[in-house]
Formats: sequence, C-alpha cells, structure tokens
Amino acid sequence: MYLKNIILFNFKNYEESTLAFSPLINLISGDNGAGKTNLLDAIHYLCISKSAFSSVDTFTIKHEELYFSVLGEMYSEEQSFKIICGLKNGDKKVLTVNNLSYTRVSEHIGRFPCVLIAPDHIVVIKEGGEERRKFFDNVISQVNTSYLDQLIIYNKYLKARNSLLKQFYENNYRDMLLLETYSAPLVKAGIFVHEQRKLFLDQFKPVLQKIYDEISSAKEQIDIIYESQLNGVGFEELNTRSIQDDLRAQRTTIGIHLDDFSFLINGQNLKKFGSQGQQKTFLLALKIAQHQIITDMLGKKPIMLLDDIFDKLDDKRIAQLLKMCKSGYFGQVFITDARKDRTAELLKNAEIDAKIFEVKEGQVAEG
Ligand SMILES: Nc1ncnc2c1ncn2[C@@H]1O[C@H](COP(=O)(O)OP(=O)(O)OP(=O)(O)O)[C@@H](O)[C@H]1O
Ligand SMILES: [Mg+2]
Repeated sequence: MYLKNIILFNFKNYEESTLAFSPLINLISGDNGAGKTNLLDAIHYLCISKSAFSSVDTFTIKHEELYFSVLGEMYSEEQSFKIICGLKNGDKKVLTVNNLSYTRVSEHIGRFPCVLIAPDHIVVIKEGGEERRKFFDNVISQVNTSYLDQLIIYNKYLKARNSLLKQFYENNYRDMLLLETYSAPLVKAGIFVHEQRKLFLDQFKPVLQKIYDEISSAKEQIDIIYESQLNGVGFEELNTRSIQDDLRAQRTTIGIHLDDFSFLINGQNLKKFGSQGQQKTFLLALKIAQHQIITDMLGKKPIMLLDDIFDKLDDKRIAQLLKMCKSGYFGQVFITDARKDRTAELLKNAEIDAKIFEVKEGQVAEG
C-alpha cells in the first residue's frame, strides 16, 4: 500500500500544494517551522481521518481561512482509492473514499493504516497511563474495528455516567435505576475492551522482543505487564461493589479507562529506571512492532511516517533503521529532517535512493 500523491488546500501553513510521492522512500527536508511535520499530519488525516498532534480539527485550517481539505490517491491491493478529508468552519468534517462517505468514520480506520514516530511520543514511556492506553488503543483499533466501536461506546457511557453521578451529588438526589441504564452498557463494552487488550498483548509481546533485539545490540529481556482493576475479577461485580465510592467521588472509579501498561527491561520498570537510550529504543521497538503486527493482521504494510527521529538515535540504531527502510520492510516511508545534508549523507551511505522534497514556508520543491 502506498500514497501516490496528495493535494493540500489551506492545510496549516500550506495554501495549495500538489505532490507526487515515491512508493518507497521520501525525504522531506526544510528549516524548523517550514511545514515538514504538517505534511506528515496531512498524510495522517488521509489514513486516520484526524490529526496526529491536535484533537481540535479547526486548528488545522490555515489561519484566516474558512476550510481545509486534503486529497490523496492511495494504491492498495491493486486498486486506487481517492480519499478526501476536509472541514469547513462550523460544518461537520467530511471524509470520502472514491466519493463515498461512511456511516461511521470508524469504518475508515484500518483501511489505509499508518504508523507515525514523532519526538513527542516519548511520553508513551515517560508519562502516565493515559498515554499508554492511547498508544494501545490506536494500535488495536487499526487491526480490530469492533474494538474501536466498543471503545467509543464505553467512552460515551462513561461520560454520561460521570455527569449523572455529578448531578446526583449537586442536586442531592439518586436514581439508581437510571444509573443502572448507564452502567450496564458500560460494563458490557468494558469487558470486551479488557479481553481484547489482553489478547492483543499476548500477540504483541513476542513481536516486540524480536524487534527490540534486532535494533539494539544489547541482550535485554523486555516485558509489558497489563495492569487492570478487571484482571481476575468480573467488571459487573466490581461495578456493583464500587457504587458507593462512585457516588462519593462523583465519577466512575472502576473500569478500563484506568488501565495501565508497565514496560519492563530485565524486570525493572523502564519509566523509573531505564536510561534515555533504553527508553528511546523501547519506543522505536514499540512503533516498529506496531507496524509489523498491522502488516501481519491486515496483510498490508502501513505507511511509515518518521518525524525527526535521527536526532534521537545513535549511529548504530540509525544504520539499523535505514537498513530496514532499504530492505522494503516498512513499505512506503516518509522521513523528515531539518538537516538535509546529514540525511542525504546517511541515505547515500546506506545506498538508499530517496525522493527528496524541500519545504520552505509551506511551499514544496522537489529536490
Ligand atoms: N492552522 C495554521 N495556520 C497557519 N500556520 C500554521 C497552522 N498551524 C501550524 N502552522 C504553522 O506551521 C509551522 C510549523 O510547521 P511544522 O510543525 O510542520 O514545522 P517543521 O518543518 O516540522 O519544523 P521543525 O523542524 O521545527 O519540526 C509553524 O510555523 C506554525 O505556525
Ligand atoms: Mg517538525
């Protein structure tokens, strides 16, 4: 699967740009603030129908403009697909493939998968459980549409249940029957998500270990421990037990929205005790494993978006990564780098023939 071309209208700092890509390696260079990451985000929009960096779609509209749109032609399973994603201020986001829209946007997820590695993603290792849940939700959603559907249902009922608990508290009344109508679907969706997270990890861990071994020369044993209040106890039972706590706290105190995943290296917690290099390598391995598992499960290689990753890696790891790019392991790859000469040199040394784009204030020239 690869993206043949893209047209941007009023997308962040791009006014109008049309680009044709290489099915293999594309290098996007330019100074800080030129628009390199924005270009990757436009590709992310085509694949996932949203930004990788902001949860507010209107931020994507170029300042002073009323709409943005991204058009792309994707080649997948010997067919071409014309994807359009756009938003007019005040309207609903538009997403079509070959001029057809979806009943539910979640149906788009997984059709044209992509994996992005960006400097900010180190938060998956360093920050709280929310970042790790987001990572795994993103990976599992791309390979399992029912997972995303159930997660959306869960979050909808969680929000509604929490606001009901707040209302009970503020207005000093209780309607336990009404609360139950929110709890039942929450529990049902929660059990599904919990089960799928468990099953997914069993598949993911061996892939991750293999990739970690490959990119680092160190012989370290890595592991992921799934931490959930639901492990070994029924959600329904927990939910019943926690009702008094929920009423007091004015929110749902039990559930998969509080799950976490501990990353371990040689039995030690990576977040607390891992070196920076170990943390970076782990993150890289997580993302490459994500790419591998999507390839295995969907039978198509996700587009690989590598945003500014050379800065974060030592020479050995860069060489290893470029070797994987060259071998075709990732399929189509987009690499951004502010230091064009360094990257050109790295690619030359690795004997990689890349298509080069130079970005300057939202204007792109083919190098
Ligand atoms: N909605 C918007 N309208 C206009 N410009 C925007 C909008 N959103 C972001 N920008 C501009 O886009 C530029 C940042 O682009 P981007 O993040 O792609 O840069 P970059 O080339 O990746 O830089 P770096 O090398 O620093 O990572 C900034 O100048 C920012 O002001
Ligand atoms: Mg950038």
